[in-house]
Amino acid sequence: MEWWQKKSVYQIYPKSFLDTTGNGVGDLRGVIKKLDYVKSLGAGAIWLTPIYISPMIDNGYDIADYTAIDPRFGTLEDFDELIREAKSRGIRIVMDLVYNHTSDKHAWFIESKSSRDNPKADWYIWRDDKTNWRSIFGGSAWQWCEERQQYYLHTFAKEQPDLNWENPDVRRALYDATNFWLDRGVGGFRIDAIVYIKKPRKFIDGAIDSEDGMSSIHNMTAATDGILDFLREFKREVFDGCDIFTVAEANGVHPENLSDWVGERGVFDMLFEFSHVNIMFNRGVEIWHRAQLYKLSEWKKTLTDSQLATRESWYPIYFENHDRPRSIDTFFPSGTDKILAAKALAIILFTLRGTPFIYQGEELGFGNAEFKSVDDYDDISTRGNYNLARADGLSDKQAMKFVRKFSRDNARTPMQWDSSENAGFTSGEAWLPVHEDFKICNVEIEERDDNSVLNFYRRLSALRNSNEVLISGDYEELYPNDEELYIFTRTLGAKKFMAAINFTTHNVDLPAQILDGAKKIIGNYADEKNYLRPTEAAIYEF
Ligand code: GLC
Repeated sequence: MEWWQKKSVYQIYPKSFLDTTGNGVGDLRGVIKKLDYVKSLGAGAIWLTPIYISPMIDNGYDIADYTAIDPRFGTLEDFDELIREAKSRGIRIVMDLVYNHTSDKHAWFIESKSSRDNPKADWYIWRDDKTNWRSIFGGSAWQWCEERQQYYLHTFAKEQPDLNWENPDVRRALYDATNFWLDRGVGGFRIDAIVYIKKPRKFIDGAIDSEDGMSSIHNMTAATDGILDFLREFKREVFDGCDIFTVAEANGVHPENLSDWVGERGVFDMLFEFSHVNIMFNRGVEIWHRAQLYKLSEWKKTLTDSQLATRESWYPIYFENHDRPRSIDTFFPSGTDKILAAKALAIILFTLRGTPFIYQGEELGFGNAEFKSVDDYDDISTRGNYNLARADGLSDKQAMKFVRKFSRDNARTPMQWDSSENAGFTSGEAWLPVHEDFKICNVEIEERDDNSVLNFYRRLSALRNSNEVLISGDYEELYPNDEELYIFTRTLGAKKFMAAINFTTHNVDLPAQILDGAKKIIGNYADEKNYLRPTEAAIYEF
């Protein structure tokens, strides 16, 4: 077993974690200050979302320099100190690589757009005419450039031009940037939006899939044939032989394809696939107002499929990140008790087979933000989705219902440290409002409460990190067609654990005899019955 299989990963969104300068934006010194907190969660690594120089059109996912820290976050010295301080606590730092695109302010793009024959002329994707592809944040995926009198392609915002991976010089430059961070001692990489790096050789106009006459670029370019050749090269040239882990973000790669992507035959150590978090979009593009209802059995199947597909490899277990709404408001029926829900999901997070990824605030039971108007949201994709809903004929009120449910800003409100002004996040004005519940939901309060979500996370994490069965035991789902309960076991030799979760708001009987010989280890209700109460979740040992 590798070090990154034995402990969890804690994801930090530095902008919203802890501000030590009073400018309303979190920073690296804030992360250094809270390393003991991260350690208390049993994490072996911290994944930092991008901290590189950026105009922040997409909050750091638009990078203007791959090897420099944005001054808002601190300096390279701060970063080196973070690596050292984290290491002394048994924590490695994982960087985010955003290699599908750069910022339009990156020196490479500025050169590329200056003429059709400069040395970097084909470092990006230029064309004389455009297709009907819609970018992921809305609007055409092609942007006209006056200087070159051509269009360039952008999968995301127009300020995020796509790099041309067909050009070996581009790939070399990206590998060099990766080595820069490896030399500083990072523990791994989360690799952003990697499925889009290979474009179909011939651009074809896609089938029209929306009323605005456009076809999502996701459907046109995700996981195009030939992409694995690039990634094999990346692995061979950079990652092979390093004591790090790689985890790729790969919307569009499904459990049935996982064996090509992870493990012995694959290109990464782990892969974030989207089946369970995107189930309401039925494997389609995330158009929020088109979300559909789904059955619990379908959701369980997505988890089981990826568990079985990674039997010989490894899986990153996650319900939240900086792009997803808060999980307690996503995966349970309305009327569910939020604290029970947070603990129930935590039970799944720490008992599936794989490395648990905790996203800041998840361990406190954060819920979605409730901003009033679309203008209160900062996130670029929120605007895109709102505009799409309005273009489809929804009223402001109807569109806002979906914004509140799915906006990425739900996950980006500042971390809540205590009950003081701005939840102890900043002494200035927070860049995004603090969630209004901060006086009852924050680290200081939860540390003191033995029954808090935070202390439940700590107990579960300690249980998982010290238990071979939970780390490497085989997964088996029981009663897959049940629409109320999720039950699965983890087995190693003669040892067996079982997790059982009630997804409803009423009592549900457990299957007969299922608890024979079982001892409850931990659960979100203190005592034990032979049925499960609303949102009850427990782990049993046999
Ligand atoms: C990934 C990131 C997301 C970003 C996008 C474009 O999906 O997680 O935050 O907006 O890529 O880089």
